[in-house]
Amino acid sequence: MSEPKSIAVVGAGQMGSGIASVAAGAGFSVLLRDVSPELVEKAIQKIGQGLSKLVDKGKLSSDERAASLSRIKGSTELADVGAVDFVIEAVTENEELKKKILRELDGAMAETAVLASNTSSISITRLAAGTRKPERFIGMHFMNPVPVMQLVEIIAGLQTSEHTLQATRSLAERMGKITVRSDDQPGFIVNRILVPMINEAVFALGEGLGSPEDIDKAMKLGTNQPMGPLALADFIGLDTCLAIMGVLHQNLGDDKYRPAPLLRRYVDAGWLGKKTGRGFYTYGA
Ligand SMILES: NC(=O)c1ccc[n+]([C@@H]2O[C@H](COP(=O)([O-])OP(=O)(O)OC[C@H]3O[C@@H](n4cnc5c(N)ncnc54)[C@H](O)[C@@H]3O)[C@@H](O)[C@H]2O)c1
Repeated sequence: MSEPKSIAVVGAGQMGSGIASVAAGAGFSVLLRDVSPELVEKAIQKIGQGLSKLVDKGKLSSDERAASLSRIKGSTELADVGAVDFVIEAVTENEELKKKILRELDGAMAETAVLASNTSSISITRLAAGTRKPERFIGMHFMNPVPVMQLVEIIAGLQTSEHTLQATRSLAERMGKITVRSDDQPGFIVNRILVPMINEAVFALGEGLGSPEDIDKAMKLGTNQPMGPLALADFIGLDTCLAIMGVLHQNLGDDKYRPAPLLRRYVDAGWLGKKTGRGFYTYGA
């Protein structure tokens, strides 16, 4: 395969819109897909607002902003992915949903295109097994917020070809990212370590160890983390944190990974963090 020129990003939420923005900034044509035209439109507007902030800070010119935005096209048509070289799936962290979407994408994509998942925790080998061409499937785990965070974890499944691995590493580098390889184990490197720490902070909150503010302040000032674990959970999305703990618990089979009951209750209430305006903290519009 020659170097990819066009990318489809499927799922236009926090991560999908960030990936689309960075890819467009790196000169790729980007197709951004979600379940409704309204969601895609909202994501493109959010990308525009993010780029405007960079213009205000003098980090981007108005022309560069306009050029980036002109490279992003919204779509809800599956057939449109047939025209791109590289597809990145960034839908909700749910194995059954991802399997269904990956099967659809696999059937509609060009034979030579690579299919990557931005899953935070789910087995790449298992997701690959549900596709027609598992050798072209790979994990490409961006960090949130994508325009700011340098890292991309690359996860090859058992079936992933060397060619797919090289193409993915090269794409991440062309997007200005630094890559690490993680073995295909639940949560990969970052979330195997980070999300249990967040979960422990939620246990601590539920047990009355401290207020959200004091737990976060203690961890920020006491361990030099830029954000406290509860604020970070709100930023990631409490549904995503719960889904990752569920994957760690189920797949590693150790009760030390059981999700904190309070985390589950917040998700049940629809308090998913910053994206819904309420989590451990409340957020304005
Ligand atoms: N939030 C984080 O910090 C973070 C970091 C790294 C990776 N991830 C992973 O990225 C993925 C997306 O997470 P997010 O935080 O962007 O979630 P999100 O809730 O912001 O967005 C998910 C998007 O997927 C869309 N979607 C659902 N079904 C779809 C379908 N059939 N077709 C197209 N789009 C569909 C939803 O409408 C929504 O816009 C998850 O796998 C998550 O684990 C998240």
